[in-house]
Amino acid sequence: MKAVVFEAYGPADVLRIDDLQDPAPGPEDIVVRVRAAAVNPKDTFIRKGRFKDFTGDSFPQQTGFDFAGEVAAVNDRGTFQVGEPVIGMLDGWKGKTCAQFVAVKRHQLAAKPATLSWEQAAALPLVSLTALQALRDEGAIQPGWRVCINGASGGVGTMAVQIAKCLGASVTAVCGAESHARVKRLGADACIDYRQTDITRSGRLFDIFFDVFGNQPFAAVQPILTPTGTWISTVLKPEVFAAVEQTRTASGQKARLIVVRADADDLAHVARWAEDGRIEPIIHAVYPMDQIAAAHRQQETKHTHGKIVITIA
Ligand SMILES: NC(=O)c1ccc[n+]([C@@H]2O[C@H](COP(=O)([O-])OP(=O)(O)OC[C@H]3O[C@@H](n4cnc5c(N)ncnc54)[C@H](OP(=O)(O)O)[C@@H]3O)[C@@H](O)[C@H]2O)c1
Repeated sequence: MKAVVFEAYGPADVLRIDDLQDPAPGPEDIVVRVRAAAVNPKDTFIRKGRFKDFTGDSFPQQTGFDFAGEVAAVNDRGTFQVGEPVIGMLDGWKGKTCAQFVAVKRHQLAAKPATLSWEQAAALPLVSLTALQALRDEGAIQPGWRVCINGASGGVGTMAVQIAKCLGASVTAVCGAESHARVKRLGADACIDYRQTDITRSGRLFDIFFDVFGNQPFAAVQPILTPTGTWISTVLKPEVFAAVEQTRTASGQKARLIVVRADADDLAHVARWAEDGRIEPIIHAVYPMDQIAAAHRQQETKHTHGKIVITIA
């Protein structure tokens, strides 16, 4: 099969297409013929070697965690049939979805929403699972709560705005002014341009501050959190671990870290919302597989509005 690989950690130019053996399905594996994949910041960090403690030093490595495609072979006992359209997200540190075939586990899959194209479907899993698990599990979101999404125009942010609205919150979106019309259409009640206004000095008060972009430390956000409010970070770094540890048993303000996990029930939940039109995957651009380096470079600008999708011929 054709697959995107890299032979060393480095800039986007290390990515190339190679011929690999088709994945041989292990026990309980499901092999998917991939139609579209999506790029996430995680793919670019892994490619650069930022997580080499987890990704190791053996090459070639593959890339990609999100996918949409059709079941090509089934070794698990039964929920999916060959030919069935599915979506999913790999967990762990080994990306593999920018390829014609990928072997996955049952908990990484859900049926593809029939109303979405392959590209839209591939744009859904990682970012919607992150937003759902952050707001519901780490933030314990309740209807009527005031939620701030910092970085509301990106992949996770556009999903977090929509999922917070599905869960009954009032949403303040922080992003560049050029995206305000789009995030309002997605449901944001108020928009703040971070280039004009420092949200931590805005005088607003939030039950949840979801720091998707990762530039607003817990201490800076505490003045705009309610006395029992929760700050949620997406960034795995020592300052975040320390804040989480310090507030682990706190009854007042809390710091939490989201680490997204593959979960079939959660994936089916967001897929239903997408099929019902309650959430919409936002696509910044679609690239063919042989332009994967350009796709990674776009992701690295930190100004991608929605998702970068890769079509797999
Ligand atoms: N821990 C986990 O499980 C997990 C899961 C998913 C993602 N993440 C992490 O979450 C972060 C965001 O991921 P993503 O996929 O949403 O990235 P993304 O799509 O690249 O997000 C980029 C967005 O950030 C906004 N932005 C840029 N500068 C900003 C600033 N100073 N203040 C506020 N917003 C700003 C941009 O808005 P403008 O263009 O409008 O400026 C852009 O829309 C990444 O670090 C990623 O690794 C972690």
